[in-house]
Amino acid sequence: MSIRTLDDLLAEGVSGRRVLVRADLNVPLDKQSGAITDDGRIRAVLPTLGALVEAGAKVVVCSHLGRPKGAPDPQFSLGPVAGRLGELLGAPVHFATDTVGESARSTVAGLADGQIALLENLRFNAGETSKDEAERGAFADQLAAFGDAYVDDAFGAVHRKHASVFDVPARLPHVAGRLVLREVEVLSKLTGDPERPYVVVLGGSKVSDKLAVIEALLPTVDRLLIGGGMCFTFLKAQGLEVGTSLLEKDMVETCRNLLERANGKILLPVDVVVADAFAPDAAHDTVRVDGIPSHRLGLDVGPETVAGFSAALSQAKTIFWNGPMGVFEMPAFAAGTRGVAEAITKADAFSVVGGGDSAAAVRALGLDDSSFGHISTGGGASLEYLEGKTLPGIAALEN
Ligand code: 3PG
Ligand code: MG
Repeated sequence: MSIRTLDDLLAEGVSGRRVLVRADLNVPLDKQSGAITDDGRIRAVLPTLGALVEAGAKVVVCSHLGRPKGAPDPQFSLGPVAGRLGELLGAPVHFATDTVGESARSTVAGLADGQIALLENLRFNAGETSKDEAERGAFADQLAAFGDAYVDDAFGAVHRKHASVFDVPARLPHVAGRLVLREVEVLSKLTGDPERPYVVVLGGSKVSDKLAVIEALLPTVDRLLIGGGMCFTFLKAQGLEVGTSLLEKDMVETCRNLLERANGKILLPVDVVVADAFAPDAAHDTVRVDGIPSHRLGLDVGPETVAGFSAALSQAKTIFWNGPMGVFEMPAFAAGTRGVAEAITKADAFSVVGGGDSAAAVRALGLDDSSFGHISTGGGASLEYLEGKTLPGIAALEN
């Protein structure tokens, strides 16, 4: 790889230099209290930040959080993240209440060597996500003014052609941070020559989100296990009735076509947990997939499915998993996701968990991070990497 790394930058010496770090601190927040429910993405960037602080850099961190619409929106403030980051680093994090305005300028100017600042949410500025090159470029100019060098450690955002990801590295000496390097190293094992059998488990709600990765993976994998909300569109494609379950009608034909071309590689649920309503306390039962009542909706895969998926996973030497098997946030519908996660931890395989949601599921279910080979911090990014797409954030580092 023709990418310079954090170690190259450290070797040059960063003491007294301002280093702008793009991180992905887009953590899940509790809807009511706004509290951070999973700080995995903050922890994941600590090695890079710690190394820069230790080397005496003036560290300026920037990130997005959620999807505000190009203007300040208090519910998406990075303020709470600054607090948590400070706790984890064991050092104060100087928080700027804007991204490139007066607060940011004075906060950055006030940094002493080895101190760290966090700018307010990048997406409070329309220039960050703009499709207009000039608008993005103007914002990138303002950001780049805060650094003498740029480190991309925002793996979760490398698939976004955004100012902080794509345009800033064109303006500053740039390197990949430790997290980005590790993620690319691991994912390239999956696209290279994975040890076989290579088994992929996909879940989540929409086939349309996963179509490109299914297409890309089908020729490569030995088995593709499909659960989650999207399994119902596949079941429908097999001619089954799915009641009021999630269904993408315009994808049924596509699913039928995929099943035909899959040569038996795709494994679908044989039983599902159906409920009266999408609610934690809804009455529910396990039924066979050919017996889904017309007025009920499937919210998890059933125990026989878990057993079948587990058997396939127990043979695997390489595993990639993205997307929950059911509505794991509701205990009544968490058994499928838990069962599959446990089967992955038991397999004698190199396992990669892809993505924000799946990673959060693993931790919410109380499973130990260390029982997986690698837990990616990027959902969309890891899928696009496996699709073989060019990732703007990586491409920008290569130039
Ligand atoms: C993610 O959560 O997938 C990343 O932080 C990217 O966020 P986005 O999908 O809003 O661009
Ligand atoms: Mg996403």
